[in-house]
Formats: sequence, C-alpha cells, structure tokens
Amino acid sequence: MSSSIAIIGTGLAGLSAAQALVNAGQTVQLFEKSRGSGGRMASRRSDGGTLDLGAQYFTARDRRFLETVRRWNSRGWVAEWAPNLYSFSAGQLSYSPDEQTRWVGTPRMSSITRALLGALPVQFTCRISEVFRGTRHWQLQDTDGENHGPFSQVIIATPAPQASALLAAAPKLAGAAASVAMEPTWAVAMGFSVPLDTPVEACFVQDSPLSWLARNRSKPGRNGAQDTWVLHASSAWSREHLDLPKEQVIEELHGAFAEMIGCAVPAPISSLAHRWLYARPVSSHEWGVLADADLGLYACGDWCLSGRVEGAWLSGQEAARRLLAHLQ
Ligand code: FAD
Ligand code: NAI
Repeated sequence: MSSSIAIIGTGLAGLSAAQALVNAGQTVQLFEKSRGSGGRMASRRSDGGTLDLGAQYFTARDRRFLETVRRWNSRGWVAEWAPNLYSFSAGQLSYSPDEQTRWVGTPRMSSITRALLGALPVQFTCRISEVFRGTRHWQLQDTDGENHGPFSQVIIATPAPQASALLAAAPKLAGAAASVAMEPTWAVAMGFSVPLDTPVEACFVQDSPLSWLARNRSKPGRNGAQDTWVLHASSAWSREHLDLPKEQVIEELHGAFAEMIGCAVPAPISSLAHRWLYARPVSSHEWGVLADADLGLYACGDWCLSGRVEGAWLSGQEAARRLLAHLQ
C-alpha cells in the first residue's frame, strides 16, 4: 500500500496519468466526487437518448495524442465526426465546411473515459477535501471526514480552482493553480418529436447568447427517437446568468436558437440544462503539469495546457512522466 499513488479526479487527465502509471508497473487508487467517470467528457442519459453535455468533439494536433486516438479508433472507442458545419455571425448563418478531422467517443463521449478506467480501483462519490502529509506518506481526507492512505505520491487532476484548494501542502503550486481563472458554460439539450427542417448539424455561433450547437443524431452511434440538439451558451452569457433557474436558461437559449437556425423551432418535448462552473480556462498555459517531485505532489488537467481534450490527455501523460522520472 505504501507505494500506491492517489489520483484525485477521473476526467481524461486523471485517467491518462493512471494508464501511463499502471503501464509502468505502478499501483494507483482513484478518487472521484461524482457517481461516474468522465468529468467534462461525461454524457447524460435523457428521454432524447444519450447526450454529450460537455466536450462535443476533439481534435488531435499533437503526434502522441493522434497516435493514441488512432488506437482508440481501432478499438471502437472513438470515431470521426464530419457534421454539416455552419457558422453564425452578425446575424448570418453560413455553410462553413473545413478539412479538420474531428473525433467523438462512440456511442457517447464518456465511452473513452469509461474504457480507460476499465477495472482500475476507484472510489466514486468521494470528494477529497484535504491532502496532507503524515511523517512519511500522504493522506487524503474526504468531505465525510474519512481518511484514505497512506500514499507515496498524489496527483490532483481536477479543474484549477478545485486543485488550488487541495495543494495547500505546496503553496507555490497552489498559487499557480489559483492564478488560473476558469469560465462557466451553460449547456442545454432539447429534443423535438419531428426533426427540425434544417441541414445544420453543428454550428459555431457568434454575436448571440449561444456559442455552439450540435445535432446529436449526426454523431456516429447516436440514434435516439427524438431530434435532440445540444446548445452551449457563450462564456459571457453563462457568467451573466450563472444563477438563473434552469427552466429560464432553457427558455432563453431556446429563443436564441430559434432566432438563428432559420427554420421553425417548436417547443421541445424534452429538455434539460446543466451548468459547468469550471468549463474552460480563460487562457492556455504551457506548464504541462505543476509538480513538486521531492514532495510527491502533482497537479494536472486541461488548464495546464490548451484547455481542450487533447490538453487534458497530454497533461496527464506529463504528470505520469515526471513522477516516474523521479522514481528512477
Ligand atoms: P475534468 O474533466 O474536469 O475532470 C476532473 C474530475 O475531477 C471531474 O470528474 C471532477 O468531478 C473531479 N473532481 C473535482 N474535484 C474533486 C474532488 N475534490 N475530489 C474528487 N474528485 C474531484 N474540449 C474539446 O477539446 N472540444 C470541445 O468541443 C469541448 N467542448 C467543451 C464544452 C463544455 C461545455 C465543456 C465544459 C468543456 C469542453 N471542452 C472541450 C473541454 C474538455 O471537456 C476538457 O478540456 C477536458 O474534458 C478536461 O479534462 P480534465 O481531466 O482536465 O478535467
Ligand atoms: P476546432 O479547430 O474545430 O475549433 C477551434 C475554433 O475555430 C472554434 O471554436 C471556432 O471558433 C473556429 N472554427 C473551427 N472550424 C470552423 C469552421 N469550419 N467554421 C467557423 N469557425 C470554425 O477545435 P479545437 O481547436 O479542438 O477546439 C475545441 C472546441 O472546443 C472549440 O470550439 C472550443 O470553443 C470548444 N470548447 C468549449 C468549451 C466550453 O466550455 N464551451 C471549453 C473548451 C473548449
């Protein structure tokens, strides 16, 4: 047990680190505050089928990540998604095709993290509130007051504001994490019994409360009975309407959607809203990972790099690489 490594967070960054460590012969123990893995790549079951409410797709620009995504593709965890892509700006909806390869998890975004988690030891619904050092080892305390440990090293793989609170034992790292501001995103899904009369399958939106919309059934492996759309509000709108009741968020974003999509949009037969408080870092960084290798404390996540799926995976890899290098 004393050589076990604790990983807090089962988003892609935590699972990327876990995989790399286990492949190198290390023992890990994961902790997750939610009921399932995936973090911001989680999917939600609904009347309109399974929906990706967080990350919508991802690109792979780094060679190592691209090789990994191709491996995931050969295992059936991901597939390419080439929607009829539009953009909306200054009141104009325009067809906006491009050559970019975009990937999605199949049959849902969370399939990737579910597959990476596999049979790794994890404790769900366990929110870690403190990471502290005993005489030689690390201990974790959760919000129920239960202690976990001892651990030789700890990797904190949560969004920056949550990481800074857990990094009290390493004030420099805590300060760096605290300097990363993260913006919220309101996500709404709405299902229609009759398919909307539009060729649009995805759209980058500007000059609107919305920033993005996607037609769920255009993604590979999704075939719900309803025509379900996922809408994301812009960071600015989400910040301004952070505490708006969910029903009102749905109503406002439904209105914005109807205004821009260019076809009749009836009242949805199903709808839901989710508020991502720490959706994206305001700016990207080139840290890779925050590390105090002598202490055995690491923090990783998308906010250490590009604020995207690729950045989360690379940051987890970097945390594992730095930790393993210190063991040699
Ligand atoms: P997370 O996925 O946030 O994982 C952190 C985990 O830690 C979570 O599971 C959380 O529950 C857990 N946790 C937090 N605190 C504690 C604690 N105290 N104890 C235990 N567990 C804890 N990226 C793209 O590339 N393309 C996109 O299209 C895209 N769209 C997005 C749309 C939205 C609405 C959002 C929110 C994000 C989007 N992203 C997109 C960003 C992408 O989802 C993230 O970059 C990536 O998923 C982050 O992974 P992570 O592991 O760093 O963090
Ligand atoms: P990408 O290359 O597809 O998109 C990057 C950006 O380029 C887009 O946001 C869009 O503004 C623009 N763009 C790309 N293709 C376009 C086209 N055909 N027509 C018009 N504009 C186009 O993907 P990348 O770089 O992997 O980015 C990931 C996506 O995830 C981005 O759209 C980003 O905004 C989104 N994201 C959303 C978050 C949220 O909280 N809502 C959090 C993190 C990422």
